[in-house]
Amino acid sequence: MQTTTEYIVKLPYDLTPWQKQVKHDPHRFKVACAGRRTGKTQLALDILIENVATVPQALGWYVAPTYAMAKDIAWGLLKHNTADFFRAGIIRRYYDGDLTIEFLGNRYLQLKSGDKPDSLRGRGLSFLAIDEPANMERELWEEVLRPAIADRQAPVFFGGTPKGFNWFYDLYQMELKEPNDWKSFRVTTEGAELVSCDEIEKARRDMDERAFRQEFEASFEVFGGQVFPVFNREKHTAFFEFNPNLGFNIGMDFGWSAPTAVLFIQVDNKENVYVFDELGRRETPIQKMGELIRERKYERKLGIWPKEIKTFDPDLIYCDPAGDSKNEATGTSSIMELRNMGFKIRYKKHYPGVIQDRISLIRKWLQAGKLIIHGARCQNLIQAMEMYHYPDPKNDIYSELPLKDGVSDHWIDALGEFFINQFPIIKSEVRAL
Ligand SMILES: Nc1ncnc2c1ncn2[C@@H]1O[C@H](COP(=O)(O)OP(=O)(O)OP(=O)(O)O)[C@@H](O)[C@H]1O
Ligand SMILES: [Mg+2]
Repeated sequence: MQTTTEYIVKLPYDLTPWQKQVKHDPHRFKVACAGRRTGKTQLALDILIENVATVPQALGWYVAPTYAMAKDIAWGLLKHNTADFFRAGIIRRYYDGDLTIEFLGNRYLQLKSGDKPDSLRGRGLSFLAIDEPANMERELWEEVLRPAIADRQAPVFFGGTPKGFNWFYDLYQMELKEPNDWKSFRVTTEGAELVSCDEIEKARRDMDERAFRQEFEASFEVFGGQVFPVFNREKHTAFFEFNPNLGFNIGMDFGWSAPTAVLFIQVDNKENVYVFDELGRRETPIQKMGELIRERKYERKLGIWPKEIKTFDPDLIYCDPAGDSKNEATGTSSIMELRNMGFKIRYKKHYPGVIQDRISLIRKWLQAGKLIIHGARCQNLIQAMEMYHYPDPKNDIYSELPLKDGVSDHWIDALGEFFINQFPIIKSEVRAL
């Protein structure tokens, strides 16, 4: 007769509230974007130990950016934390040379490092923890580690501090694309309560403001100078419904190899601006763009009784004046084509300083908390708000014009065309006699 034995072993610490919340969240892929000294490594190891101790035939990996980090930080912590497992006989052996722990029942826990990718070729993982992904290459995850978790559909924990907008930022965004499988968490050093407020205040004084925000507030920062530093996902994005009692307008920037960017926007009677949808297409003729806009069926209540509901076009499309220049070959312009389809178009001739005016309008609305972007449908715009930045200063000369990076500038231009037409800036003129 076979009997199974249950062991109850306590780890020598209690998880902190944020660690518990992340550990018990049911998503398969969890991304903890957390400040320095918040307990990321400890949590990664905690989930790993539990997986290896409870899953039959477990093979769990912890991957750090370098071998030194795996050995000097994680191995010591791991051995210390699992000492009772060893005493209880659940751990059979520690292999210090291989940074491997053998648990009873042919189960293994291994520490690995990103600087030795060949040691990472393997299959059949039951769990994977990746520590500080921002310090590793994207390819390591996509080409090496992802295949290793596929056989057993292993869960994955990513824990790290941001490093500008690199691929860790894309991981952090995954919950918007695949909300059933992915979940992101953001934790500040102050919120994690492992470091004293005094220490944090000292760091705030000593560090560059942006570096402090990145390291202690787990914020994604652009180091060339963000155009909209006040933009904040918590404040400026939301999940809201289209309001059928209001019309909507469109802000549009024409493109070809870069996408044509279209933003769908409602404004309420307090001048709150809700960007509720976006549409971006590369290499798409303008007629097709018009059709795609019409395919999105927004329904509006008409003011007659009984209240009839009908789909409808945007009231106005605000766009880039360049769209009015005629194509030599066809004899028409983008704007003419849209008008021929029945859309109503408005645009403002560009004047010196129009870009700065558009930016200051957007800033004003952000500052007042009156610009709200749909958190799931408008990912391109959200990313652009965070990434749009000024070029690095040359010889201490700072540019007033943001960098045309070929991606974010189009979405911001589309938003800018909306603002400058919807809320025109009236400049007082001084007339010389
Ligand atoms: N739940 C906990 N209870 C008590 N101490 C903890 C807990 N979690 C972490 N610690 C301790 O806090 C310190 C920081 O933890 P850890 O190394 O896991 O943080 P980290 O976020 O990975 O830090 P770093 O940014 O330096 O990599 C360590 O000394 C660790 O032992
Ligand atoms: Mg760590």
